[in-house]
Amino acid sequence: MISNTYATSTPHGGALVDRVLQGNARRDAQQRAQTLARIPLSPVNLSDLELIAIGAYSPLSGFMNQGDYVSVVREMRLTNGLVWSIPITLAVTAEVANGIREGQEVALCEGERPLAVMTVTEKYGYDKEEEAGQVYRTTDAAHPGVARLYRQGDVLLGGNIWLCDRPSAMDTEFPDLRLTPAQARQAFAERGWRRVVGFQTRNPIHRAHEYIQKVAMEITDGLLLHPLVGETKSDDIPADVRMESYQALLREYYPANRVVLSVFPAAMRYAGPREAIFHAICRKNYGCTHFIVGRDHAGVGNYYGTYDAQRIFDEFKPEDIGLTPLFFEHTFYCRKCGAIVSAKTCPHGKEDWLILSGTQVRQMLERGEPLPEEFTRPVVAQVLIDGLRRK
Ligand code: ADX
Repeated sequence: MISNTYATSTPHGGALVDRVLQGNARRDAQQRAQTLARIPLSPVNLSDLELIAIGAYSPLSGFMNQGDYVSVVREMRLTNGLVWSIPITLAVTAEVANGIREGQEVALCEGERPLAVMTVTEKYGYDKEEEAGQVYRTTDAAHPGVARLYRQGDVLLGGNIWLCDRPSAMDTEFPDLRLTPAQARQAFAERGWRRVVGFQTRNPIHRAHEYIQKVAMEITDGLLLHPLVGETKSDDIPADVRMESYQALLREYYPANRVVLSVFPAAMRYAGPREAIFHAICRKNYGCTHFIVGRDHAGVGNYYGTYDAQRIFDEFKPEDIGLTPLFFEHTFYCRKCGAIVSAKTCPHGKEDWLILSGTQVRQMLERGEPLPEEFTRPVVAQVLIDGLRRK
């Protein structure tokens, strides 16, 4: 645990977890890892490992044991009572599990390279359909999060981890914009911010996103623009292209002293409401006091109602979440108002509103067609067109 000197918000459970080994302890673990049974990690596991180690998932210090897993799936709480909405698990095949006994120390590997040591405290079977139904609110294998769950191994390994080497993504994917929760808190403290709003995104920033961010910036000291850069589905815009587009937009349209841009290395689950709670709690760990939840947050297809990800917050006492969610209606450009509006603020009708679906936007970008200026800033559209052309 590291101290919380810079806190703008208290981390979930009270203190930031730090499971990154240093010095001799690190060297010892690296040596030991060479001799241990090796567990290969998936891209999602690699993200989770990093996020556990740096404290983004505080109070988690490892992959979930059965008690926490079942409690999270059914009650959205850890066994200690803290709110937690998404299982963080390490799934392996029955074959791999058969070679491992409880109490054994294993090496968690990226390819052949050990990154962490973990003492397996439990190995257990689980009900994928129950997890799908509870966490994703659907058992449909066409849902990308459910499909991933159905593909993964049938046995879960629980245990605390210690990171002894860096996942390669930490050095190759946006290393300069990959603040840990402790570093983000320090960045806020250096700027004298006490009220910080977090913005999760897996998409380019269109005018509607910019509008809700700036409305939130009016009532806070600063914005943590925190794009998710872990695994996303193949038709989402790749993270490197998005990052370029965020930087171009920030340069021209945001005051530099009011925004921190940093990546969130998690994978998307597309779990809608449950993921909104998870995203909020992780951002609290990064030091945010507020968090934006707009239309269909972390949704996909038609699995969730437009505002389900806002309504789920009503199931908890505000102090159990510990950060203030800022809810936004669906916003869009209205030609008559000449501004970004929502049905709450605009008296006009659909014929005056410019609304494009994600699929429409993607198709226009792929054809190299400029997006309407009222929808996306031209500088952003150009970066996206050029970036997708290179892919
Ligand atoms: S998400 O999967 O990360 O939620 P996205 O990047 O599209 O997807 O959304 C980021 C945040 O902006 C989410 O809180 C989402 O609800 C919100 N949002 C996206 N588009 C709109 C919009 N047109 N109006 C209001 N909120 C929006």
